[in-house]
Amino acid sequence: MIETGDLDFENRLVSPREIEIDGGEDGDINLRPKTLSDYIGQKKVKENMSVYIEAAKRRGKPLDHVLLYGPPGLGKTTLSQIIANEMGVNIRITSGPSIKKPGDLAAILTNLEKGDVLFIDEIHRLDNSVEEILYPAMEDFVLDIIWGKGAAANSVRLDLKPFTLVGATTRSGQLTAPLRDRFGVIERLELYTPEDLCTIIMRSASILEIGCEREGAMALARRSRGTPRIANRLLKRVRDFADIMGNGVITKEIVDIALERMEIDNLGLDKMDKRLLEMLIKGYNGGPVGLDTLASAIGEEAITLEDVCEPYLMQLGFIARTPRGRCATDLAYNHLGFTRQGTKKSDDSENGQMSFDD
Ligand code: ADE
Repeated sequence: MIETGDLDFENRLVSPREIEIDGGEDGDINLRPKTLSDYIGQKKVKENMSVYIEAAKRRGKPLDHVLLYGPPGLGKTTLSQIIANEMGVNIRITSGPSIKKPGDLAAILTNLEKGDVLFIDEIHRLDNSVEEILYPAMEDFVLDIIWGKGAAANSVRLDLKPFTLVGATTRSGQLTAPLRDRFGVIERLELYTPEDLCTIIMRSASILEIGCEREGAMALARRSRGTPRIANRLLKRVRDFADIMGNGVITKEIVDIALERMEIDNLGLDKMDKRLLEMLIKGYNGGPVGLDTLASAIGEEAITLEDVCEPYLMQLGFIARTPRGRCATDLAYNHLGFTRQGTKKSDDSENGQMSFDD
């Protein structure tokens, strides 16, 4: 039996989810790039967006509605702020779960100025009744207000100022077809390469006035799970170790010490990932096992495993998704030091571990 212990998914250092402070952002506001040229990585998305923005500006029209999807922490909010900035308009930021009633959305829409960007995070979580208001608003920039029921129903149509909706979701498959069809631009954000993350870390270190050697930044990048939010969070923690145990400069040695102390391994996996993989290997003989079964075995929600752990474990090639469930791959067995026969390799636990430079 594998213990799940006192695992706390939301507070993991390597969680790509935003940690809310006072209901707001995670203090990274000044690390966020403000222009497309400062935005590192996501080359294809950036190149396409710059064409769409330029074309909309030349025509003097608002940008078409944009859907951004992909794992959490990759900069969907940042990109929407850049879009607003590049278009020279204001942005209103909200989220699917916080728009509870049609009236809430009506209040937001009627307050938008011409060309403004409305950013709705977690757009797949909009209530149906709210979503229905959004269709005519997106398509014809009108708001249909209906009151009363059946034969006694009345309605009035209000004109809205043309706006751009930027929707963000980690699960585009959960968007209803009528909503998805109303986005003119649909872009998928991918996990970042270690090289791009290294550049992001060097940029953040410079903004935060942290001394950081390139080798140190690269060591940190390799453990940031392809996610800038994690890279920036780890950077701040490693800085603490550099200040207390070194001379304030982030070197590869300091990164190695700090991450070992934080129990994050050479690929950025933490205790949680390891328990998940161990459950799959020891508890279910490597799989296949259904996501819900695996999630309840480690006491976590399936949606969290799917959004938070799996994208990176799949990118590493540690987990395969099959029609019958999740399977651990040979790479996962190797990394954790298990053999297919169910024994733990007796050699040094670092042996057989894969790293990005292998
Ligand atoms: N900070 C977070 N994401 C970033 C990105 N893509 N480019 C530059 N800085 C970032």
